[in-house]
Parts: sequence; structure tokens; C-alpha cells
Amino acid sequence: MELEKIIHARHSTRAFLDKPVPRETIEKLLFLSSRAPSAINLQPWEFTVVMGEELRRLGRILVKRMRERNISCGPDAVRPLPSYLMDRQRKLMDCILPRLEKGVHFQDFVNEGSCNFYGAPSAIVVTIDQVFSKSRLVDVGIAVGYMLLAAYDMGLGTCPIGLISALADEIREMLSIPEEKDVVMGVALGYPDPHSQVNLAVTSRAAIDEVARFY
Ligand SMILES: Cc1cc2nc3c(=O)[nH]c(=O)nc-3n(C[C@H](O)[C@H](O)[C@H](O)COP(=O)(O)O)c2cc1C
Repeated sequence: MELEKIIHARHSTRAFLDKPVPRETIEKLLFLSSRAPSAINLQPWEFTVVMGEELRRLGRILVKRMRERNISCGPDAVRPLPSYLMDRQRKLMDCILPRLEKGVHFQDFVNEGSCNFYGAPSAIVVTIDQVFSKSRLVDVGIAVGYMLLAAYDMGLGTCPIGLISALADEIREMLSIPEEKDVVMGVALGYPDPHSQVNLAVTSRAAIDEVARFY
């Protein structure tokens, strides 16, 4: 598939088929993700793949802790968002909410869904060694961007999940990830449920003249 088509068509998947992704497929995906460029070619990304019953166990614990600690998906901003950013957030909610089953609250759906990786058969926990400064998160983000696009090209659905970084201690403990690694995010990975309404949500983007300037 042409890259332009993949970029247009990729979107987050929040409902998956109960069908495992073969290990070789995930290995190929990680190989493609690792082709991302990075400063001094340091390749600071690290991936922990969790599958099947281990993932369900992790999900149950994360949902429990998220409720106990009242953790919620949010912009993680250092100041209140200005109105144009609030507007983008509202648009996302308006896009997903009508596609949820009646009575399901948007915030509950996203919080619980994120913690249990939306029921995906596999997930990738992305970490970075604390030897790196925050600048190297850029490199990790590029690799995850490659991952999302490559997965789509391979017929797989993904949902990037930042919420789980708030539960890093639990994740480190359950997956034996060393203390000196920061949990950057997770990626839910599996075959999209073609009958799910929520998977049909198409998010908008700000116009280019809102985000770019030419001199
Ligand atoms: C760094 C990052 C963190 C995200 N965290 C979450 C999350 O915790 N839960 C969730 O449901 N979606 C999460 N998303 C998905 C975004 O909501 C989604 O990418 C955005 O609304 C655009 O929609 P699209 O991916 O369908 O194009 C995250 C995306 C990124 C890039």
C-alpha cells in the first residue's frame, strides 16, 4: 500500500477480534519500528511485548489501580489548556461518544479501555532507559509512529496508550522491567473488530494554516 494511503487510513482501534497475533508478525513489526531514525543512532526505544493471559492479568491489575488512585486520561498539561486546545479535545469526544453503546460514559470507556488495552490480544509496552534526557522521547515517538503505520499496513489495528505511564510502578513489577527504565506508553495491538462502531470513528485534524507558518 502506498504510504500516503496508509497515513490517511490509519486510525486508532479500540475493539479487537479475539485472535492472537503471531509472534513472527510482532517481531517483523518491531523490526520495522526500529528502522526509525534516532539522534546519533542511539535507538533509545525498548519494547516489552505482552500477550494472551499475561496481558489480561496486567489489564485487570491496571484497571484496579487506576480506580483506586483515581487516574484518568488527560492532556498531561502543565497549565490549563487554552480554548483552541480544549476545542480539539471536545472534538475527539464528539467523534467517539456517539459510537459507544448506550449508557457507556466516554471517560469510563477510555480509562478502563486504556488500562486493559481495549481487549487486544497483545500489547507493546514502550520504555526508555533513564540514562537519556527527555529529548530522546522524540526518537521513541518517531519509532512508535513507524509502528502504527507499519501495523496498519500489515492488517493490524493499534491504539497508542499514554495513560499507562501513570501506572509505571505496577507495570515494572508485573513485567520485571528494571527500575531504571521509564514507561513511556503502551500500544494495544491486534486485528480490528470490523463490526465495532467505535472503530469507525474518524478524528479530525486542525487545518494546516492553524499549525504551520511559512516565511
Ligand atoms: C502519545 C499518545 C498517547 C495516547 N494515549 C491514549 C490513551 O491513553 N487512551 C486512548 O484511548 N487513546 C490514546 N491515544 C490515541 C489518541 O486519542 C488518538 O491518536 C487521537 O485521538 C487521534 O485519533 P486517531 O489515532 O484515530 O487518528 C494516544 C495517542 C498518542 C499519540
